[in-house]
Amino acid sequence: MRFPLKWPALNGRVLLLGLLLASSAAYADDPRTTQTAGHKGPTALRGPGRAAIASANFHATEAGLEVLSKGGNAFDAAVAVASTLSVVEPESSGIGGGFMAVIHRAWDGKQFFIDARETAPAAVNVKDYLNKDGTPNRDTALNGPLSAGIPGEPAGLVWLSKHYGKLPLKDALAPAVRIARDGFEPDSRLINAITERQKDIGRWPASVTKFLPDGKPPVAGAVWRDPDQARTLELLGEKGLDGFYRGEVAQKLVSSVRAAGGNWTAKDLESYQVKEREPITVNYRGYRIVTAPPPSSGGVAVAEILNILSGFDLSKMDTAHRMHLVIEAMRRAFRDHNDYLGDPDFVKMPLDMLLSPYYADGLRQTILMDKATPSSMLPSSAGAEPGMHTTHFSIIDGEGNIASITLTVNYTLGSTFVAQGTGVLLNDEMDDFALVPNKPNVYGLLGSKANAPEPGKRMLSSMTPSIVFGADRIGVIGSPGGSTIITQVLEGIFAFIDGKNALGIAGQKRFHHQFMPDRVDMEDGVFDKATADELTRMGHALKQREPWGYMNVVTWDLKSGTLDAASDPRRPSGLGKVQ
Ligand code: GLY
Repeated sequence: MRFPLKWPALNGRVLLLGLLLASSAAYADDPRTTQTAGHKGPTALRGPGRAAIASANFHATEAGLEVLSKGGNAFDAAVAVASTLSVVEPESSGIGGGFMAVIHRAWDGKQFFIDARETAPAAVNVKDYLNKDGTPNRDTALNGPLSAGIPGEPAGLVWLSKHYGKLPLKDALAPAVRIARDGFEPDSRLINAITERQKDIGRWPASVTKFLPDGKPPVAGAVWRDPDQARTLELLGEKGLDGFYRGEVAQKLVSSVRAAGGNWTAKDLESYQVKEREPITVNYRGYRIVTAPPPSSGGVAVAEILNILSGFDLSKMDTAHRMHLVIEAMRRAFRDHNDYLGDPDFVKMPLDMLLSPYYADGLRQTILMDKATPSSMLPSSAGAEPGMHTTHFSIIDGEGNIASITLTVNYTLGSTFVAQGTGVLLNDEMDDFALVPNKPNVYGLLGSKANAPEPGKRMLSSMTPSIVFGADRIGVIGSPGGSTIITQVLEGIFAFIDGKNALGIAGQKRFHHQFMPDRVDMEDGVFDKATADELTRMGHALKQREPWGYMNVVTWDLKSGTLDAASDPRRPSGLGKVQ
């Protein structure tokens, strides 16, 4: 063994809590302290003059740049990018879904977290997600109106525009309305998604109208139009919240959902609220990472992993031992994800403990330097196949405003249910609740009571939009990918800290461990043979998988003022562009 450590007593968190309490007196002064409040950023920075956007679809990136050229700022551009993605990339996000955003305001250097996550309808009933024999009903959890939470994205766009933008909302929505009305050529990802989900789409008449215009999926090169969504976006632009959550669109949403066996009411829509929350901030190797708090598990997990790793001198280790420690830190953070986290408006969570460097100290003691800890030896619940859905975009404008936004309808094409006459594809976000305790969701994640469904509650997310602040450089990072979002963002942060450019960060090979299943998923080539052999010798089960994720990154070199933007080279339609 290269780094001898005694095998620790893995007897639950008693040891860890003990360590935490024993050292709590020093907590406030510890420079590694993870904060959950009070985010005065680096004092207002002089803007770079130019702007950069990276998103998963070139129409969306161009829409954002168009709005910037009309005098908008990063937040107006974010509205343009998000609404255009709703039209051209409906398999990943849309106005029937939700988003989470970490933003940086240039004029006072402050960061904010905007939670436009979906909520459970008031009439939510866990019995709707069970078969008669009590087994989980995966159909109602993933398809049709029962699987859909009350959408948050339209309210989030109104919020961004009203509180942070410069242009009228309708101007920021204009490119999306135009593209939906005039049409666009669907890319291969959208065509494949429609083909994959054709059977479910075929169950709902308005979904057939939207996605199977001639009774079959669109073909490459065909122009595809979405006039119903164009009208809905127009109403949102003209009337704000009332254009979606009250009146004509709301009535159509509720009547369509109820006619197909769902339980939404007008009150569910009227009472939807965006929440602004304190982002999580964690300090690591001289960088300050600002990321997503609950109801995302992402920021807590990233902070926990970085806090564990900050106690090791990784630079002195060979690759295999460095990777071993990162994997062990991932394992422990995902274990906590399963047990503790949920909607902060409903659940009391031990965030002070989870984010404390002393809790991380305790977890670090349980790591063997030369041997994998089987997840079964760490007390907890457990999950999974990495999911590939959701979308992320990153923006820096000429003034230095920053938007890091991850958006979702959950599984590919969400619930596949389109509400009649609206063009709105509903999400299937209800599956992100622990609908049936200790049964995995579509990403193999398990949950506990903290993430049980309740009326009006937000379901736990893995979305991890993040901004990394260094003395000389800022990075805006995020990705889709279900449970793998968290480890992708973590590895993106490492790549940024190691000095990689935007393409290097988005394109680097990935690996992932999420506690259960107890294995390391890896892209071909992420570990060289010697490293893979050594990790296997330490007891890690390595499994090669198809590439995953769709990372869209922008960076800003503060010394030279240079911006850089890149979309994940694994995917065909993304665009990172500096203008
Ligand atoms: N629906 C995926 C997530 O929010 O993590």
